[in-house]
Amino acid sequence: MTRTTAIYIHWPFCASKCPYCDFNAHVRERIDEDSWKNAYLAALSHYAEMLPERIISSVFFGGGTPSLMPPATVQAIVDSIQKHWRITNDIEITLEANPTSVEREKFLAFKEAGINKVSLGIQSLNDDDLQFLGRKHSVRDALTAIETAANVFERASFDLIYARPNQTLKNWQEELEKALDYTARHLSLYQLTVERNTPFHVDHAQGKFSMPDEELAADFYILTQEIMTSRGLPAYEVSNHAAPGEESRHNMAYWTGGDYIGIGPGAHGRITLDSTKYATRDHAAPEIWLERVQTSGYGRTLLDPLSPEDRFLEGFMTGLRLRKGISLSELERRSGADWAALLDQDKINIAQKEGWAERSENTLRLTTEGILRMNALIPYLLRDDRSDRDGPHTAA
Ligand SMILES: C[S@@+](CC[C@H](N)C(=O)[O-])C[C@H]1O[C@@H](n2cnc3c(N)ncnc32)[C@H](O)[C@@H]1O
Ligand code: SF4
Repeated sequence: MTRTTAIYIHWPFCASKCPYCDFNAHVRERIDEDSWKNAYLAALSHYAEMLPERIISSVFFGGGTPSLMPPATVQAIVDSIQKHWRITNDIEITLEANPTSVEREKFLAFKEAGINKVSLGIQSLNDDDLQFLGRKHSVRDALTAIETAANVFERASFDLIYARPNQTLKNWQEELEKALDYTARHLSLYQLTVERNTPFHVDHAQGKFSMPDEELAADFYILTQEIMTSRGLPAYEVSNHAAPGEESRHNMAYWTGGDYIGIGPGAHGRITLDSTKYATRDHAAPEIWLERVQTSGYGRTLLDPLSPEDRFLEGFMTGLRLRKGISLSELERRSGADWAALLDQDKINIAQKEGWAERSENTLRLTTEGILRMNALIPYLLRDDRSDRDGPHTAA
């Protein structure tokens, strides 16, 4: 069967490690560029043999900092994808870029290699906060990078991190309005999270900074939704905002249960083989991944069949992150599981009454109030959840 498929390529290296980041990203003094290029090409050949009849609809170079990749490596990967598979006419090929590694010449070379969209890690338009976040770029560098990206690529997006220590709602409003002067198409807006195993986790535990409380964090989220909606870029997912038609097609494939091949250290994939959906994961350590590909042709450590229940729950969790919500009958068809056996109808009714969820015949979606409680609300709606019957009162 010919199935539309996305490809994720993980580049695990960064020039420096940001203290808040728990992505699989590493700093290395020296990278053997040829070996890495050859490894990605070998892993692509492996998947081409395994999944020959595919049409590739999107490719995403994520990281780490893929804008540090030599454009020749990106070119070789894109060429190899085109050699192995058919691609859609409107294929989306995105590369994540850090403002410190953006030069016009390099962007032109990426464009030449086939990249047609970039996603820039801007994080803040405030110099003090960029420093706090451990970023190596200034606001001026950020704005130059945004302008360069907009000049070179038809589609560009950027990421900002908000709800930062000491940030006020007014500061954020001004910063976001400024950001919106630079894009009318797509923005990813993340609330700062203190992740385990990061330097921020230690600093936070030692009281070196404090995070906004739950109520203020909720106000940040609500204000963000108001501004973005009024500027014509409503959220289509919890943290992603776009003008109509500008949504990330690659991410939408993840969130709507599409197949995707994941290649590179720590990359995850979801692939269908003979009607069974499998979860894949590559070895996370860069050097071990490289060695495995060199010896066996692929870096995968896991190929696990997903049960109908697994597929349903995964689709339920990712689908409820989307503004449009989920179609329960479509999710049933896709997963092969019976929704009534997995979801608690009484709790869905409570969530509706409380204004956390909306249900029309077949569709279930979370409201802004529901998204604010999402981490507690999703398990609450499941039949075998043991949370309080009164409902999730903890904010997400
Ligand atoms: C892989 S990074 C993006 C590209 C590039 N590495 C960079 O930082 O410029 C993905 C995005 O996740 C977001 N992010 C990472 N850690 C985060 C955290 N602890 N809290 C909130 N957002 C975070 C940042 O906005 C970041 O741009
Ligand atoms: S935020 Fe981006 S640049 Fe910073 S360590 Fe993470 S992946 Fe690397």
